[in-house]
Amino acid sequence: MNRPLLIGPFTQLFPMTGLPLKGALKDEQLSIIKNGGILVSEGKILEVGIFDELKSDDVDIHHVEGQQVCLPGFVDSHTHICFGGTRARDYAYRNAGKTYLEIAKAGGGIWDTVTQTRKASQDELVAGILSRSQKHLKNGVTTIEVKSGYGLSIKEELKMLRAIKQANETTNASLVPTCLAAHMKPKDWNHDKDYLDVIINELFPILKSENLANRVDAFVEESAFSPKEIKSYFQKAKEMGFDITVHADQFTTGGSQVAVDFDAVSADHLEASTEKEIQLLAKSNTIATALPGASLGLGCAYTPARKILDTGGALSIASDHNPGSAPMGDLLTQASILGTFEKLSNTEVLAGITFRAAAALRLSDRGKLEAGAQADFVVFATENYQEITYHQGQLKPSEVWKNGTPIH
Ligand code: NIG
Ligand code: FE
Repeated sequence: MNRPLLIGPFTQLFPMTGLPLKGALKDEQLSIIKNGGILVSEGKILEVGIFDELKSDDVDIHHVEGQQVCLPGFVDSHTHICFGGTRARDYAYRNAGKTYLEIAKAGGGIWDTVTQTRKASQDELVAGILSRSQKHLKNGVTTIEVKSGYGLSIKEELKMLRAIKQANETTNASLVPTCLAAHMKPKDWNHDKDYLDVIINELFPILKSENLANRVDAFVEESAFSPKEIKSYFQKAKEMGFDITVHADQFTTGGSQVAVDFDAVSADHLEASTEKEIQLLAKSNTIATALPGASLGLGCAYTPARKILDTGGALSIASDHNPGSAPMGDLLTQASILGTFEKLSNTEVLAGITFRAAAALRLSDRGKLEAGAQADFVVFATENYQEITYHQGQLKPSEVWKNGTPIH
């Protein structure tokens, strides 16, 4: 075993521990370790505390210079960074006044990306995932969920999920794959059998045997799948042991009810959620995920994050990075902006991209700096953590550590 490594001293270190998973958070609740240090070994955290108290002859030291703030590595719990092509045309159309659904019906939208993704080779998809992951890593995002959903056939969904698995073997980030074969009904489906039945019977067993994903997502929306249509799909996915997550209440409601009914790990989007859905989510185990990047990309309302928190819900904030509705892909910028519009405390924003986001992926070994957790953390050259959201993503990390190794 290598000698443990002590990293620090950090002017302010935020372990993000001791905070509840659900409900509103005040900045007074945030515990700060001044002149903090992190002791790591074999990629895991051994101890978090005051730097000088962790020093000993038995440890090596990585000194950080000047004023530095340290937080857990950020977690992006919802992305679509496996895709081919671009949808810049959609963006221009939208800004010329056409709606998301009008563009989809006119041949743009998700189906356009399906066509472009099907044309890409698996290696080309891997290259795209790697470059987007690299950008995320530089911005302090060390764990990234990645969905399929631009294949929409057995062969093409497999190509995407194999590309995600292949990229995960190369990138320094942890990629968490999700099968989104139920993103929309494939326009070219011409089999006698129902599309979702074929996914269940033919794709799901391969996901298990090749270990390609243990999470299943669906877009529950008028343009995709109705709550009624998706029920037996989710039922079967649950029986096979998949975690469920839902694209819910983006334009119309109904999805969050399905999410709660199936005890989904998360319900994501929620821009259209009303009091009723917010209450439902707050009483459930399902994490509500806001996707401000989609609001910014579409020019739509934000997820009612303030109400969700005040009602007692758990709020994750994710980028939704995709070529259509959320092309920006900058998690910290988006989370900070959501904070300004929804009046979120710094602690709520930071919780939403650390331990609450990790919970949305059912990962208990990250999003917090504590003994036993992965040694994933992000460092900013400032003396005051408030500068981080204040600069709305323009204050970039000075260091990013993944599994106890500096990768940026
Ligand atoms: O999360 N809402 C559905 N799916 C994606 C959009 C995908 C696309 O437009 O390509 C989303 O916003
Ligand atoms: Fe999405």
